[in-house]
Amino acid sequence: MDILIKNGTIVTDSSIYKSDILLQNGKISQIEKQILNAENCEVIDASGKYIFPGGIDPHVHMDLPTWAGNSCDNFESGSKAAIAGGTTCFLDFVTPARNESYLEALKKRKIEAENSWIDYGLHMSITSWNENSKNEIKQCVENEGVTSFKAYMAYKKSVGIDDSALLKAMDSISDNSGILMVHCENGDLIEFLENRTEKHSPHFLNSPDEHAEIHNQDTEIEAVSRILLYHSYNDCLLYLVHISLEESINLIKGFNSPDICVETCPHYLLLDDSRYKLPNFEAAKYVISPPLRDKSNNEALWEALGNFDVTAIGSDHCPFNFKGQKDFGKSDFRKIPNGAGGVEHRMPLLYTYGVEKGKISLNQFVYFTSTHIAEVFGLNKRKGFIEIGYDADLVIWDSEKKQIISAKNHHQRCDYNIYEGMKIKGLPEKVIVGGELVFDNGNFIPPKRKSEFLFRELPVL
Ligand code: URP
Ligand code: ZN
Ligand code: ZN
Repeated sequence: MDILIKNGTIVTDSSIYKSDILLQNGKISQIEKQILNAENCEVIDASGKYIFPGGIDPHVHMDLPTWAGNSCDNFESGSKAAIAGGTTCFLDFVTPARNESYLEALKKRKIEAENSWIDYGLHMSITSWNENSKNEIKQCVENEGVTSFKAYMAYKKSVGIDDSALLKAMDSISDNSGILMVHCENGDLIEFLENRTEKHSPHFLNSPDEHAEIHNQDTEIEAVSRILLYHSYNDCLLYLVHISLEESINLIKGFNSPDICVETCPHYLLLDDSRYKLPNFEAAKYVISPPLRDKSNNEALWEALGNFDVTAIGSDHCPFNFKGQKDFGKSDFRKIPNGAGGVEHRMPLLYTYGVEKGKISLNQFVYFTSTHIAEVFGLNKRKGFIEIGYDADLVIWDSEKKQIISAKNHHQRCDYNIYEGMKIKGLPEKVIVGGELVFDNGNFIPPKRKSEFLFRELPVL
């Protein structure tokens, strides 16, 4: 059924105004101060509520295979958690095995993603390089709508690539006007330091804190400088994922390139490295890469958002259960699967601790969580905006609604939450996906429509 939303306050990346919105056949069909002539539609009264374009999470890892089992949200559970937090579209990854065809891996990943409740796109990870890679990148962009790629400068033993492959990938991606996402950590240095711990201080192997000691600031800063250097010889568009340090931001700012987009995540804005001192292996819950940093970086990252030096918020949602997954590394921190959940609280946390605290504006909130993501990842003709003809993916936001985050009430399928006990003020009241109301005051309503794999356009930075 069509939906008429009345009396809400529309917030876009550049304006705030009161208007009615009519949704027909999955699209936004009318935006008028007062819509009086709509018939046969469900009417939602959004008085006193904000209406945001549905959130787009640019960085999630559902069902990611690791040595400790797959990340514990699949596309269905993860997409429902996303909806509960106002996210109506996300971008996950294809992770080909070494020397597997990118296109073959894409085909398989698309099947895994089919049970998502929200539309999804897939970034292609460049996990190895061979004589077919150049052509496969071209095919991804031209025939598959996969216009973004990902390279890991860390994890050399599994998905990471060396610099020779990285440079070739940059070259091919720029030839095809795509964008390369980069995980910036010096994998060789990390491996060297891990081996040194094993050899000289093996008693530290059972300490998750050692993960943070080894993935230290230098490993990120060096990798950021190196990718910037490579960028100076190559005009490949870059999206630097999960940047965690003030110094990284300063380096990128100093480079002053319009062709680089910087992402950070709520956990780097809100949590700090004191978590690694928690007893009873609890620190393993925060074993993520890069690790949490000291408090000074939290503030610096908020400032960078306020100044548009960082313009994208990804959750890097990659949850693993504490029992049965994180504890895989109980006697060797190197075996703790890296990652934590966050897709559900990306928007409420940014709203509460960013907008409510006056660190970012409402328009910036929309820009960082939706509109700019749509632009960077080639979705800006369909999503990220509240305009006629756009997908009817909308969030009706109750700025007064409060909650305390807990694994007891979250929708992520994980036995802990890194934000446990944190207060949020500002949550979705209703969420509309593809013109259907799928979340209403805490209740999920299964969609009739099937979610779509998004064939994406070229990035616009
Ligand atoms: O620790 C993390 N971030 N795990 C997910 C994979 C990645 O590096 O983005
Ligand atoms: Zn990463
Ligand atoms: Zn990630």
